[in-house]
Amino acid sequence: MRRTNTCGELRSEDIGKKVCLQGWVRFSRDHGGVAFIDLADRYGITQIVFDPEDVPGETDVNSLSNTMRTFTRESAVSVNGIVRKRVDGTEDARNPTGEVEVLITEAELLNRSRSPPFELGDQKEGVLPNEDTRMRYRYLDLRRTEAIQAMETRSRFIHLIRQYMVENGFLEIETPILARSTPEGARDFIVPSRVHPGTFYALPQSPQLFKQMLMVGSMDRYYQIARCFRDEDSRKDRQPEFTQLDMEMSFVDSKDIQDMIEGLIAYVWKGLFGKEIDIPFRRIGYTEAMESYGSDKPDLRYGLKFVSLTEVVKDAQYDIFQRILKTGGMVAGLNLKADVAGERIGRNDVDRYIGQAKKFGLGGLTWMRCKDGKLESNITKYFTPEILDAIKQKMGAEEGDLLFLIAGPWKSTYEGGGALRKRLAEDLDLIPKDEMQFTWLVDCPMFEVDPVSGKYDVFHHPFVLPENDLNDAYVGGACFDLCLNGNELGSGSLRIHDPELQREVFRKIGMDDEKIQADFGFFVEALGYGAPPHGGIALGIDRFMSILLGKDTIREVIAFPKNKKAVSLLDGSPAKVEDEKLEELQIMTLAIEGMDFDDLGSLDEE
Ligand code: AMO
Repeated sequence: MRRTNTCGELRSEDIGKKVCLQGWVRFSRDHGGVAFIDLADRYGITQIVFDPEDVPGETDVNSLSNTMRTFTRESAVSVNGIVRKRVDGTEDARNPTGEVEVLITEAELLNRSRSPPFELGDQKEGVLPNEDTRMRYRYLDLRRTEAIQAMETRSRFIHLIRQYMVENGFLEIETPILARSTPEGARDFIVPSRVHPGTFYALPQSPQLFKQMLMVGSMDRYYQIARCFRDEDSRKDRQPEFTQLDMEMSFVDSKDIQDMIEGLIAYVWKGLFGKEIDIPFRRIGYTEAMESYGSDKPDLRYGLKFVSLTEVVKDAQYDIFQRILKTGGMVAGLNLKADVAGERIGRNDVDRYIGQAKKFGLGGLTWMRCKDGKLESNITKYFTPEILDAIKQKMGAEEGDLLFLIAGPWKSTYEGGGALRKRLAEDLDLIPKDEMQFTWLVDCPMFEVDPVSGKYDVFHHPFVLPENDLNDAYVGGACFDLCLNGNELGSGSLRIHDPELQREVFRKIGMDDEKIQADFGFFVEALGYGAPPHGGIALGIDRFMSILLGKDTIREVIAFPKNKKAVSLLDGSPAKVEDEKLEELQIMTLAIEGMDFDDLGSLDEE
């Protein structure tokens, strides 16, 4: 028996044809001795029917009937039969094959399935089990229509990316997976060398240094669908191993790179959805993003903007604000307009948000409501009528509006405000779910200074080209992030190509010459051989896919993801290795007991 059609193919034009279908038994129903089976494969579901009263003369009904009894759920089977129209009124309009069914004349069990641990059919038939169970049996989970769609879309997405990159003259070049451990932000996964005991490779956190060295090597316009490895805590949008579209270009400025990415996204959009997308994308400066939306990856699908009140309240006799302002902090307000939220957020709700302030990372949260033309709350007594009036004006507060006020150190408080803004938008249902808002975050600083230690750290990474002298009070970095609906999709920059400037940046973040030489000597040396001006970007493919498909976590768009504790429940990794292997590597382990597979934590905790 050879398959003539897939389970997603047959239509009313095929009525009368003899066909052979192969796939998995999803559901079977017995209607008075007639068996109806949903036969499923990657392409769809076709109803097949075994009717002992309605088989061609030459068929051995008993033998066929015996075979049909072996067709347990999720077994792989093969059937021959004749396509016929379904009985009037039993068509399934939601299924593209739903006008027809196949009357079975021959059948074969290809491979019997053990009883599946959960229901794979349409969600209408049952609720999905918890994610751990699905991931333990991910090969079964992948048979679900939703998972198939995710894998298909991802595959098409990557194919379209490759097409676009090739059309634009990019070379696909692979960079090493085993490389040197270089400090790049996250922890490395390290791999011991057997040949040189006591030494280690690291898995790449990204191909950053190699792609820059490809530019030195004249490989202008490089790209790669690159696997990256970072030993950091997993989250809904983070995995220890993930995939980037990584690219780098020579002799370019920031706009060339951004234009290339906008072109790519427009191309992919057209290819995936047949729709045009508006380019160029909106650009927003880092400071404005933080001060208006409380985020360096602002979600611009909805309003709710913070307004600075630092100037307005600087003379108010309110101790908390005074203390904060004296230490260089800020005060800002968020106006929840009466028609959006004013009436829907009552006193109890306000208290609930105040109670959650710490969780958002805020030192505290205060409020005022505009009633009878005046601002009222438990703290208004500390403010003169003039200051209250100025707050009202600045916030554009009108009757019934509710103001939330945040105050504290600039960065952490705006970030906390951003978390509050997101929660409010979710609670008030203000987020248009179908909208896609791409935004470039631009005008970012080169460095961040730790408010306590005064230590400099890089805002992005140390290879970003500084926009002005490193000794200036403020140093900008030629870097940019691509954001989508409040998520960071990608991050790029122009790079330093002058070895001395590269050393200076390393020094600025506290590395001495010895450490620079030890960690990055080979790289700085490469820049010294006529490195061209260059720049590039990397987009997180898993993140992009999960947002496009409206998935809650990136795990749903990865064929075999790790769980929250970086464990693969399917193959039980990480796992111990045999003592002999460790001896060969001259490695001794202290963690004698190894992993406790009973304590993997629940994904629901996220
Ligand atoms: P960055 O570290 O910002 O930049 O990463 C770029 C994009 O990769 C995705 N990403 C992740 N996705 C899933 N799980 C993770 N753990 C994870 N970490 C990052 C995000 C992110 O925006 N070499 C630079 C890029 C460059 O400058 O060209 C880099 O890797 O979508």
